[in-house]
Amino acid sequence: MSDIVQLEISDRIALLTLNRPDKLNALSYELIDRLMTLLDAIETDHAVGAVILTGAGERAFSAGADITQFSGSVRQGTPTALRDFVRRGQAMTARIEAFAKPIIVAVNGIAFGGGCEITEAAALAIASDRASFAKPEIALGMPPTFGGTQRLPRLAGRKRAMELLLTGDPFPPARALEIGLVNAVVPHEELLQAARALAYRILRHSPLAVGSVLAAVTRGLNMSIGEGLIVEAEQFARLVPSHDLGEGLAAWAARRPAVYTGR
Ligand code: COA
Repeated sequence: MSDIVQLEISDRIALLTLNRPDKLNALSYELIDRLMTLLDAIETDHAVGAVILTGAGERAFSAGADITQFSGSVRQGTPTALRDFVRRGQAMTARIEAFAKPIIVAVNGIAFGGGCEITEAAALAIASDRASFAKPEIALGMPPTFGGTQRLPRLAGRKRAMELLLTGDPFPPARALEIGLVNAVVPHEELLQAARALAYRILRHSPLAVGSVLAAVTRGLNMSIGEGLIVEAEQFARLVPSHDLGEGLAAWAARRPAVYTGR
């Protein structure tokens, strides 16, 4: 398959693969647009309950925004650079962050710049022991622009994030685990298997309940706790009339496995 982002669906999991290995899966405008189109399709596909996002080739998840391409937008001035580069990239990470189904990033190698920002935005991430992370934008004379100044401090804490953002130095998967950027580090050969195993642990549950947790956590993190508690209550209220909540409670009472329908 030569698609710039590959999609394979099996066992209720959509596997998305960034596919520009000769450019370390740099995030060109075409790649971002294709990823957004595929996410739209996956979100409405009832056969899919979880997404794994990884990179093609032996070296990289993604080395970040396509520097050659966005340099052209920068040369055209601020309005073009904001419209074509920054807004496009921010829309992508916001979409990944707020996606209605769990996205697990399987970080198979270099995750620099935008590759790291995708990892920050996703609900879950597992890193290969060969992964390498960095916030190298500072070395290009700019701050990160796909949410990297906002999500990493929220995730890792201000001073940990500042060090990474201000030095641009690469950091290993063990550090990514320590600062909460990934959920686990696994041997490289086991990466996709580990991501699938995590997906299956989620797929056992009602897709409605999964969606409600994703929405409440992600929206609540960006609000005061008072507003977040209202979101939490709203998410529960939506499920009260659902088949799945009745089924989950009945199955518990009967000590039998629940059979969820997503309704
Ligand atoms: N944008 C565009 N092209 C990129 C890229 C990026 N972010 N990262 C890598 N590439 C391309 C290289 O230009 C090269 O293409 P070429 O063979 O046609 O010249 C190819 O991918 C391989 O990269 P290369 O730099 O030769 O590999 P390396 O092992 O020497 O270095 C990195 C690896 C990751 C250190 C280096 O590619 C790099 O610094 N990339 C940019 C990282 C970055 O700053 N990202 C944030 C952007 S805002």
